[in-house]
Amino acid sequence: MESNRENFASNLTAILALAGSAIGLGNIWRFPYMVGEYGGAAFIIVYLAFSLLISLPIMLSESIIGRRSRSNTFGALRKLSKGRAWSSLSLLTVLSPLIILSFYSVVGGWSIEYLFKAFGGAFVNADPDNVRAQFAAFTSHPFLPLVFHTGFLLLCAIIVILGVKSGIEKFNKVTMPLLFCLIVSMAIYSLSLPGSRAGVDYLLKPDFSLLSPKALASALGQSFFSLSLGVGTVLTYSSYISPKENILVSGVGTTVFDLLFALIAGFAVMPAVFAAGIEPGAGPALIFETVPFIFCKMGSAAPWISSVVAILFFAAICFAALSSAISMFEVGVAYLVEEKGLSRRKSVVCIFLGVWALGALCAYFPRLFSLCDTLTSNYLMMFGALLFVVFAGWVMKKEDVLSEFSSEGRYPLNRKLSGVFYFLLKWVAPIAVTLIFITNFLS
Ligand code: PHE
Repeated sequence: MESNRENFASNLTAILALAGSAIGLGNIWRFPYMVGEYGGAAFIIVYLAFSLLISLPIMLSESIIGRRSRSNTFGALRKLSKGRAWSSLSLLTVLSPLIILSFYSVVGGWSIEYLFKAFGGAFVNADPDNVRAQFAAFTSHPFLPLVFHTGFLLLCAIIVILGVKSGIEKFNKVTMPLLFCLIVSMAIYSLSLPGSRAGVDYLLKPDFSLLSPKALASALGQSFFSLSLGVGTVLTYSSYISPKENILVSGVGTTVFDLLFALIAGFAVMPAVFAAGIEPGAGPALIFETVPFIFCKMGSAAPWISSVVAILFFAAICFAALSSAISMFEVGVAYLVEEKGLSRRKSVVCIFLGVWALGALCAYFPRLFSLCDTLTSNYLMMFGALLFVVFAGWVMKKEDVLSEFSSEGRYPLNRKLSGVFYFLLKWVAPIAVTLIFITNFLS
């Protein structure tokens, strides 16, 4: 199996793939809202500190496990430990990205439908009630959400079937730079609207009194979700990074890109929301009910500009969602190919069918949708993150971990940072994750 394993062509393409997984709906529909709700710049500072001190070491531990073993999630823990206990636990981290993928694909389907709507000029001059009614009519339609969920998942399947290099790598190489251009132009446009200042204040005004324990738990949860931690996507992608590359660079690069994208997305969405004089919200409603209304408002002045901006916005959402979705898909496929001996094509079909079925149920039962969301983001991702970080910090040998961290001693800066990194990995990250886990349980 080892011999025909593919590798990313370079560290840059690995970063683009990891960033593709990280940058997704979470950056657009949750981050801007959380920042505003939990204290603006104060929240951003905490988020930054958590990302660097807790999330980054976890991401690196996943990278170390993945690249050292050159295996899928399950195989990695089996190879690097004695006995089956650890790998049995890791089965949960094969399952959780597939659960996330099922409801994520439903929302991905909505974004494709909204891209079509934008092409048809559906939002020009519509009023807020009409925008809300369009969303309600679409999501309760007997088969349209299913059609778009199927379409979205099919697109993922096609990219994943093409393989690591010709599918995943190529897709991210093209879409990531495009995505950045799209979101930067949206932000420039949004900031130029009269009345956008209130949105900037909403995002940046520091208010430390809002940093409650719940805000802290949400900051870490969001950082995990946004960086795709604890579900084996980083582990699986890292197993395709060549042993010579510097994983500290890919880890830091991914974290920085993800954060930058979240901030720019905040400036693309919130100033426009405030300029239109509407209340910001979070979750699907922000993207599919609030933001389209901005395009309606603009429409009265210049209908074509409003259509073009709407198209750009929903195209960005589609790309962001697809690049994240394929990383979750790949976790399951790598597992079936390497552990069950199925061909890549057969594995893709199996994953497609399972995820499609659960997603179809999520599309029609909102309670199941939010159950899957809460289960994965509050518990399974935390569990996975704890599993990987404890495995790297307490089960693997220290020399192995540090030698992988510096790519067999190739990078002097990594060697210098080894002490700090190992301390964060062994003590800070597991304790922090445990505390947040408990907070989530209690609330
Ligand atoms: N990071 C993605 C986002 O921000 C979501 C995701 C979670 C992707 C887990 C892969 C694995 O939307």
